[in-house]
Amino acid sequence: MALLSVQGVSAAFGGFKVLDNVDVTLNEGALVGMIGTNGAGKSTLFSAITGYIPLHSGSVSFRGEDVSRLPIHKRVQRGLARTFQVPREFSELTVFDNMMAAAPGQAGEYLAALVFARSRVRREEDEVGQRARELLRFLNLERVADERAGRLSGGQKKLLELGRLLMLKPAAILLDEPFAGVNPVLIEELSERIVELNRQGMAVLVIEHNLEELSRIVPEMYAMDRGQVIAHGTPDEVLESEKVREAYMGGVI
Ligand SMILES: Nc1ncnc2c1ncn2[C@@H]1O[C@H](COP(=O)(O)OP(=O)(O)OP(=O)(O)O)[C@@H](O)[C@H]1O
Ligand SMILES: [Mg+2]
Repeated sequence: MALLSVQGVSAAFGGFKVLDNVDVTLNEGALVGMIGTNGAGKSTLFSAITGYIPLHSGSVSFRGEDVSRLPIHKRVQRGLARTFQVPREFSELTVFDNMMAAAPGQAGEYLAALVFARSRVRREEDEVGQRARELLRFLNLERVADERAGRLSGGQKKLLELGRLLMLKPAAILLDEPFAGVNPVLIEELSERIVELNRQGMAVLVIEHNLEELSRIVPEMYAMDRGQVIAHGTPDEVLESEKVREAYMGGVI
């Protein structure tokens, strides 16, 4: 059954159309890849799905409800969450505090608590703190929990970005280039975490330029070019499709 359904979505920046009648379906429990040349509109599609930009036409439904006009936080409340191509951590805060600040309804409260130096022990005892600890363990970030996030490596920042997303207890996650700028060892680790989350029932839509790694983990894939979906199927079907080959010819993958 469709968890997320994008139907006939178009969107524009200024007068420039960047999404043109896009249809994408993410079924419950699915793990789906999204590829496409630079500027194809992949990140913009995530922005349209999660409410960062308005739709020109079409609709986005999540769990059978039309969420097209809901603000970002209402979509998050319903379980729809994304990461960004460039991680958006609070670099001055510790890794643990970044996780805490990401929890729903926590940001203001938690950041204020930090300012007023509420005892750390108490924070870690509560349910949200435990969840943050568990996720840091799951992501193998436990040993850097007290480091400032700004000091993490590129790959660790991506893991933290995933952790912050998971604090929202989402039903579906949209990952924008999780492997970009990440060393091969951490790519492997990120990959495993993504597959594991999916095994636990989370639906995942993942944009990636690393076609080799992506093809290894997803059974289904979409390809976009110039604002349109140009192929959909298994990784082999998509990568072998004529339109995809043409789009990538001379383009930057
Ligand atoms: N905030 C913005 N204002 C104006 N134009 C934008 C904005 N964001 C993206 N664009 C344009 O929209 C088009 C699609 O960009 P988008 O970032 O969605 O591509 P992408 O497929 O994610 O590419 P990449 O693989 O390089 O990340 C591009 O032409 C881009 O220049
Ligand atoms: Mg992008």
